[in-house]
Amino acid sequence: MLPQNQYRSIVTPVFPDFIEQRLQKCDEEIFRPRKNRKPLVLGNCLPNSSSIMLQSNDYLNISNHPDIRNAQLDVLSRMSREPVMSAVFLHENSDKSLFENRMAGFAGFESAILCQSGWAANVGLMQAIADSTVPVYIDFFTHMSLWEGIKGSGATPYAFRHNDPGHLERLILEHGQGIVLVDSLYSTMGDISPLREIVGIANRHACVMVVDESHSLGTYGTNGSGLVNECGLTGQVHFITASLAKAFAGRAGIILCPAKFSKYYPYMAFPAIFSSTLLPHEIAGLNATLDVIRAGDNRRKELHEKSRHFREGLSALGYNIVSQSQIVSIEGGLESDTELLRDALEERNVFGSVFLAPATPKTRSLMRFSLNSDLRMEELDYVLNVCEEIRDEIGMWNWKSTRRKRNDQ
Ligand SMILES: Cc1ncc(COP(=O)(O)O)c(C=O)c1O
Repeated sequence: MLPQNQYRSIVTPVFPDFIEQRLQKCDEEIFRPRKNRKPLVLGNCLPNSSSIMLQSNDYLNISNHPDIRNAQLDVLSRMSREPVMSAVFLHENSDKSLFENRMAGFAGFESAILCQSGWAANVGLMQAIADSTVPVYIDFFTHMSLWEGIKGSGATPYAFRHNDPGHLERLILEHGQGIVLVDSLYSTMGDISPLREIVGIANRHACVMVVDESHSLGTYGTNGSGLVNECGLTGQVHFITASLAKAFAGRAGIILCPAKFSKYYPYMAFPAIFSSTLLPHEIAGLNATLDVIRAGDNRRKELHEKSRHFREGLSALGYNIVSQSQIVSIEGGLESDTELLRDALEERNVFGSVFLAPATPKTRSLMRFSLNSDLRMEELDYVLNVCEEIRDEIGMWNWKSTRRKRNDQ
């Protein structure tokens, strides 16, 4: 046994300059500009039991649902040996395949592929369908995981202006048939893609259509089957991807696709080959979650009504709200302005999530509120009162986003 003091004296190797310089840059950009020397996203204080929390993506508030917990506990208490390995070794009758079949039926697709996360789903899919010969058309505000997927595939990205189908079509006419990528519901501002127009253009030019439904699967469409389904576009979209860490409140991702494709995916995409699959109790939890989501019409109705009330309230106070959903963001713009906003909210016990570069353009940082179906109207009205009270203190009338709203009116 080692003497006691040897546990304490840990020897750390020295970093070369190329790493030290990166750490220093991070210190200058993230830590030092803040009064409290903490990253802007962390705030000054921790929430307590009476705080109003508007940070979680558990939109239907089901993460503690007893059916989901019991399904996981049941598997955990029964299984003595669980396979911990890549999904390439799994056979067709695995619990994973059974869940995939249920998810495919739920969303109106032939097949589904369960992935370790939404990130893995997007990176894996892009690697499997794109290469340096394929132009990829991507909405400027589409999630970073799809941008990373393009990078990994070696394809060239052609970014079109946010929610601008006309610009997409001009780029396709210039560069030819390829892949079109959008989010159905954008995770920073909460606005919705004009899916009918975008899918129409993709089909007209024989492009492959991919929609990331991370923030709309479970919250929109019949039984929560998503926005593509709600828009009547199911047979016209080749792939839907989604994180199951939002309304599904788990730790996983999914690709919905044609059966022809799912057969090959496990042998083409590196996240499927070289990264371990989910554990049986996680799959059992997701399976139970699907039932809870399907039966969640009341939760969805509550979520949409409360979100509308909150959006309209903020808009009436003069804030520039572009959201059409349960994600409602206030754009402070400059980081210093978003910091003032965050502090004013925290002082009044309201907690949202700060978004800044690289999640937003540098001068368009924002405070994101994620709503859930169980929030009480009094809580939302309290937040609206706070937002009314702080407008002068945070300089809201002079923000660029406020001026943009005035110019648009
Ligand atoms: C639109 C979108 N796609 C993909 C992801 C990645 O999902 P996950 O957190 O499951 O990796 C996210 C998560 O932030 C997201 O918002």
